[in-house]
Amino acid sequence: MGITINAEKKIFTLETAHSAYQMQVDDRGFLRHLYYGSRVNGSDMSYMHIDYDRSFSANPNCAYPVRGYSLDVIPQEYTGCGLCDFRISSIGVINPDGSFAAEFHYDSFEVRKGKYTIPGQPAVFENGEEAETLVIMLSDPATGLSLELLYGVFPEKDVITRAARIINRTAGTVMITKAGSMSLDFSYGDFDLLSFHGRHAMERVMERTPIVHNVTSIRSRRGQSSHQHNPFVIICEKGANEDYGNCYGFMLVYSGNFRAETEKDQFDSTRIVMGIEPESFRWKLEQGEAFDTPEVILSFSAHGFTELSHQYHRIIRHNICRSKYNFARRPVLLNSWEGSYFSFDDQSLLKMAAGAKELGVELFVLDDGWFGVRNDDNSGLGDWFVNEAKIRCGLPKLVDDINAMGLKFGIWIEPEMVNEDSDLYRAHPDWALNIPGRGPCRGRNQLVLNMSKPEVRDYVFDSISKVLKSANIEYVKWDVNRNVADVYNEQFPVDRQGEIAHRHILGIYDLLERFTGTFPDILFEGCSGGGGRFDAAMMYYYPQIWCSDDTDAIPRIAIQHGTSFGYPVSTIGAHVSASPNHQTGRITPVNTRAVVAMHGTFGYELDPAKLTEEEKKEIRSQILYFKEHYDVIQNGLYYRLTNIGEQYFEAWEQVSEDRSEALLSVVITVTQPNARLIHIKMKGLDPEVDYRMDVRTDIDEKVFTIPDFPGGSQLKEFLQKEGRVYSGAALMNGGITLPWLMGNYLAMQLSFRKV
Ligand code: DGJ
Repeated sequence: MGITINAEKKIFTLETAHSAYQMQVDDRGFLRHLYYGSRVNGSDMSYMHIDYDRSFSANPNCAYPVRGYSLDVIPQEYTGCGLCDFRISSIGVINPDGSFAAEFHYDSFEVRKGKYTIPGQPAVFENGEEAETLVIMLSDPATGLSLELLYGVFPEKDVITRAARIINRTAGTVMITKAGSMSLDFSYGDFDLLSFHGRHAMERVMERTPIVHNVTSIRSRRGQSSHQHNPFVIICEKGANEDYGNCYGFMLVYSGNFRAETEKDQFDSTRIVMGIEPESFRWKLEQGEAFDTPEVILSFSAHGFTELSHQYHRIIRHNICRSKYNFARRPVLLNSWEGSYFSFDDQSLLKMAAGAKELGVELFVLDDGWFGVRNDDNSGLGDWFVNEAKIRCGLPKLVDDINAMGLKFGIWIEPEMVNEDSDLYRAHPDWALNIPGRGPCRGRNQLVLNMSKPEVRDYVFDSISKVLKSANIEYVKWDVNRNVADVYNEQFPVDRQGEIAHRHILGIYDLLERFTGTFPDILFEGCSGGGGRFDAAMMYYYPQIWCSDDTDAIPRIAIQHGTSFGYPVSTIGAHVSASPNHQTGRITPVNTRAVVAMHGTFGYELDPAKLTEEEKKEIRSQILYFKEHYDVIQNGLYYRLTNIGEQYFEAWEQVSEDRSEALLSVVITVTQPNARLIHIKMKGLDPEVDYRMDVRTDIDEKVFTIPDFPGGSQLKEFLQKEGRVYSGAALMNGGITLPWLMGNYLAMQLSFRKV
């Protein structure tokens, strides 16, 4: 396992526990991609590729007079541009002479112990295990433009990371117009693309489409990884499903504009290129300067999506999330937002906190509206001092009082934004992104602070740090509530304006590094109007991210289902909110809302004073149940058991890594008459072990009072029966059958414990 080099054949093989990745320098010095897939016992895979003379696929100059050598059909590790590979390029350049061409030839390689880092950017880090780095150096003989391809190999995690470093060793200045982090060619195979699209309050819905003979771009140009498209895609064989088939994941560790492009070419080969979105990007490289791309986490599974997801969950939890809270038990929180929005004062907050404490909540979070002059979302952003008209007792006293109740205290911030109606904007209008001669675009009536300016970052850091130091603040929710437009920085010359979008993101990373470094004991939760910046780069700074502003349990299932393909449960912020739901008006049982929120870091977002006594009792028991099953929920392996919308219910399962415990969750999403029974085959259990099953639900007596309730006696018997024991083999091969559940959006949790 690890990196093997066949010096004679110039073959580089990267092996993980279950995958192999191979490339070779050919006779003309090009770096060919040979293979990525299941392990092949170290075989030389070059035999798979045969070169032909293909009409209308021109030959590079160095191949002359051979007509059967064309980069337009040869699988490559990272392409050049502007010459005779007419497929999508990995890179775009404007050379000192104005030409657009680059062609990279092999120079040398280096193997380093440990995993490479990327200056100023988040990246997968090694965490106790053996990781290795392979660097392959290439350059364009015509210009001297150099390229370092970086490969990080994590054998035990079945992960390979890739990034590129472009170095200007030409005789002049080079403009980089596209800087792909990686590209990969599959010479053979018929593939589907899984991507995760959405919108505000409906993020990361999985979409599966065939890869066809055109270029498909999954991208964001919104200055954030975005609600609309996530920087994670899967390429899989046609028949692949949760448990079967070859599938390849590509996750960009980046929070800004990105693009993942796929193209099936004339001979049905598939190429994927992933990196920073080129449309909004130009980078001027002076002689001797280098540009570092963000990295992509690649992983392969021969056994379908579930295994691939587990590989991503593992690498994110162990090698991306750095917070000390990553593996610690996170507190059950109550967030004030949907309970009071902007209307609160210190007294109402204390009342809300007391109500939360009574329910068993551990952390009270004061959301938007506590600072500057902020009674709605039109003013105040940027003024990071306490609004004493609302918090009359002052923040330290409020926090002390809440702490005295036995609750931790957390606070909301939106550091990257400013309202025009704020002291900050009045003093520094030039700190907001704006293109001279144009009025700014407004989103939620706010502007974006220009994080490519160090003085802006200093102000934000100093002013918010002062607040964080002023009281015992143990949690911070870092929000971002609009997309980035008006990208410009007048401190940079005209021909460097294409750098600002990326410099803005680097500035945000710098700020996050300063905050998380200075306040290591604070639990940071990310947010961008819910899940508008739900990406691996952000998880490097925060171990959890508010997954969506949609707290309606029913659509939330699809959001969390899509999110789970790449990201672990422990990163998914999920809350129980009031019913009727504030986003959709839907009415659901409070139990169902909790079952769905236990697919995440679990908390509440409602006003406890508005709950009935019955609801309070139910919530108390939910919190106890969550705590009892915390380990399996947050640290277990996650299984999707249904494909969204295929049936009238959805189900998922969490199983402890030692397989001693499992939690099965089932929610009825469409109420049907005379429905077929719910039958589910469980996954991931130990076939040799017997498990005791316990049922939790709020299906109560009311349902049995419906006249002629069909199946009432069976349901009653199912709920009342105790001491059921089934073998893991039976539960996985035969499955479990649930009685017919009648009523709106009912839900059940079935826990299984090794006897
Ligand atoms: C958007 C977030 O997603 C909400 O949870 C809330 O914090 C609001 N912003 C506050 O403005």
